[in-house]
Amino acid sequence: MELQKIKKYIRIEEVSQEEIDALILRVNNCSWRQTFHIQPISGLLNDPNGFCFYKGEYHLFYQWHPLGPFHGLKYWYHTKSKDLVNWENAGIAIKPDAYFDSHGAYSGSAIEHDGKIYLFYTGNTRDENFIRNPHQCIAVMDSDGTITKLEKSVFDKVPEGYTEHFRDPKVWKEGERFYAVIGAQKTDEIGCVGLMSSSDLLEWNFEGELTTKLDHFGYMWECPDYFEIENQGILLFSPQGLEPKGDNYQNIYQSGYVLGEKLDLQQKELTHGSFVEFDRGFDFYAPHTMQDSAGRRIVVAWMGLPENEYPSDINGWAHCLTIPRELSVQNGKLVQKPVQELQYLRKGKAEAAGTLSNEKKTYDGFSGVTYELICEIESGDAVEYGIEFRAGEEEKTVIKYDAAQGKVILDRSLSGKEVGKGYGTERKCQMPGGKIKFHLFVDTSSVEIFVNDGEEVFTSRIFPDIKSREIRFFAAGGCAAFKAVKWDF
Ligand code: FRU
Repeated sequence: MELQKIKKYIRIEEVSQEEIDALILRVNNCSWRQTFHIQPISGLLNDPNGFCFYKGEYHLFYQWHPLGPFHGLKYWYHTKSKDLVNWENAGIAIKPDAYFDSHGAYSGSAIEHDGKIYLFYTGNTRDENFIRNPHQCIAVMDSDGTITKLEKSVFDKVPEGYTEHFRDPKVWKEGERFYAVIGAQKTDEIGCVGLMSSSDLLEWNFEGELTTKLDHFGYMWECPDYFEIENQGILLFSPQGLEPKGDNYQNIYQSGYVLGEKLDLQQKELTHGSFVEFDRGFDFYAPHTMQDSAGRRIVVAWMGLPENEYPSDINGWAHCLTIPRELSVQNGKLVQKPVQELQYLRKGKAEAAGTLSNEKKTYDGFSGVTYELICEIESGDAVEYGIEFRAGEEEKTVIKYDAAQGKVILDRSLSGKEVGKGYGTERKCQMPGGKIKFHLFVDTSSVEIFVNDGEEVFTSRIFPDIKSREIRFFAAGGCAAFKAVKWDF
């Protein structure tokens, strides 16, 4: 095997504690470590997996390559929380050590059954010629948190008509039967979603492809998720292979959804509207949802993208998850709002209000590295208005409304260390002007901006200098009125 491949498949169990400690020390010394986001202790994090609520706690797992910031042998790492805000690391949940997951415990989901949590995931295997064969596997978590894999996989082949890219089952129960959507690629290299079903979670049947209106829509659909909100069916997935179109599809890969009638399980058909990009920022992929005991549908995503390099790589780690967001449907659109528990993070409060014109304004208490900021701007006759944050002498990240274009624009051209080279430095989306509300969650190396109460969200990593802390409000070409409130975290 080539050296690169060997390096990718080194197991954490084979590495000495000294080596691991040295790596963790390097990671902990990185100035871009996050403070309120789930991040790996070392190495690379990608998709959120197995999000569920069980015995009074939220459990959230993620794809983890422990030994470096690249996509190697994947483990499931386990985190848990009582309030969706304070997360505790609970260690490795699934090791890729069986014949059915020897080359990675890939993405999957969770469901409670018979008082236990069933984790349904894809086991990635490769034979001696490096040919991939995915298995679908089950691990069971009992009430004391012990996770045990079944001895055999529950589905060990790729159905006729599909390629080796057959993975990421998302399971739910309807009546007496379990169903799962699974990401797939057809042999003609077209992405789609498959439907599987089971009476007991142990034996699975492949029902066939879900019929949608999206023909020839990318070459692979990863991490599908099906759920219902107020009798509407929503299929969320991450298609690969879409070409940029206007302001859309600017990242290497996309995440989005179709919304429509409830899925017709008999016909395996989804009647729906057009595909909508779920997030407008630079770094967002593989969103994964759960329903909690209060009936809320909550989503978490990977705040990163495959195949991009990130500035923290040199310090031995990459990526984090987004904050949890509650989903609702408003006017036929999926809306995301930060879960209300995030208010537990709020500490010192600052407020400001006034008018804005060409001169940029700063206010007492309005600076920092990790905080929440809500700012409402009434445009008046200004043509461009918004906020510069994580700003210093040379650096700034800008969120603004451009009235001439009728668009909200996130500009990270001066956000610090470059990231996502080749994919542009601005992200935009159309929105009606007038009054705009920007709600920001800023961590050491990220920002999540909820526009107009979550109608649109811009999620992005940024890598500014720790000294770039200013917050400046501005309006150009006229006057605007604004009020803002900020909480330190
Ligand atoms: C998406 C993905 C999944 C796969 C996992 C492997 O980012 O490629 O399709 O299960 O990551 O880590």
